[in-house]
Amino acid sequence: QKHVIGIDIGGTTVKLAFVTYNGEIIHKWEIPTVSEGGPEKMVQDISTSIANEQRKLELSFDDFRGIGVGAPGYISLEEGIVYEAVNIGGWRDVPLSELLGEATGYNVRIENDANLAALGEYWKGAGDKADNLLAYTLGTGVGGGIIANGELLHGANGTVAELGHMTVIAEGGRNCNCGRTGCLETEASATGIVRSAIDGIEQGRSTSLKEIYNETGKVSARDVFEAAAEGDKLAEDVLDHVTTVLGLAISNMAIAINPSKIVIGGGVSKAGDQLLDPLRTKFDTFTLQRTGEAVEFVIASLGNDAGVIGAAYLALQ
Ligand code: BGC
Ligand code: NA
Ligand code: ZN
Repeated sequence: QKHVIGIDIGGTTVKLAFVTYNGEIIHKWEIPTVSEGGPEKMVQDISTSIANEQRKLELSFDDFRGIGVGAPGYISLEEGIVYEAVNIGGWRDVPLSELLGEATGYNVRIENDANLAALGEYWKGAGDKADNLLAYTLGTGVGGGIIANGELLHGANGTVAELGHMTVIAEGGRNCNCGRTGCLETEASATGIVRSAIDGIEQGRSTSLKEIYNETGKVSARDVFEAAAEGDKLAEDVLDHVTTVLGLAISNMAIAINPSKIVIGGGVSKAGDQLLDPLRTKFDTFTLQRTGEAVEFVIASLGNDAGVIGAAYLALQ
């Protein structure tokens, strides 16, 4: 059985992996995301780096049957086009399958990054083949993927499972990269958590985060979780807000899908139970009792590999 190549294009790095037909990573590496030079340059970088790594491992072109790619934006699976991806330099209508296919000689399939993370977790991770599953990635942005009746949902024109852009603040919300305001992503991404903390500092609230901010000029989502664990009131309020809006959005989705698993991944999910326990409590207050009874909340288990494993799964279809 031939291997496949899984690729996960992100805002700062492109993750690549050689993956066996049954989902084992045999080799993985990263290259930086360079937005100058546009998609053509990125395709060239990816293709050169694949050839290099194959040579290093003494693998040949014919040891692989194809490539799967995840990109952070609106995508047409059938046409192989990235309609829009704002976080990697504002791509628009990029025929990524064709470009990468020409550069590498392989058959290329593309999907939204978070949809692939959902597939990866479903196939090899915490999703555990649950046929009705919701997956969230809480990172720089907030992504989502929906598996219903054992199939990843594809939607009509590329915005399926854009769960980070569900409106959770009806009035006076923050601006979002999608051009609207009040999206889940503006509150529950790592960036959103940091913004809420900084807002609190700037409003003059007394908090241990203030020292970190004054010394280094920044605060991380991790700092917020650590401060909350030590009883810092502002940090606790930020986490309370995050779990409220997330619990609300997830409950609304769960009522639509009736999932048995909800997988939370991305950098913010490293907080583990500190995030999951209050999230579960909030979720239960919002959702239908019977919907809640079916659901198990789990932290994603594949970490940074979810995207490339999901991409490999796609390449094998
Ligand atoms: C984008 C999604 C993407 C998510 C995670 C969002 O801002 O709209 O397409 O899946 O970020 O990268
Ligand atoms: Na998605
Ligand atoms: Zn948005």
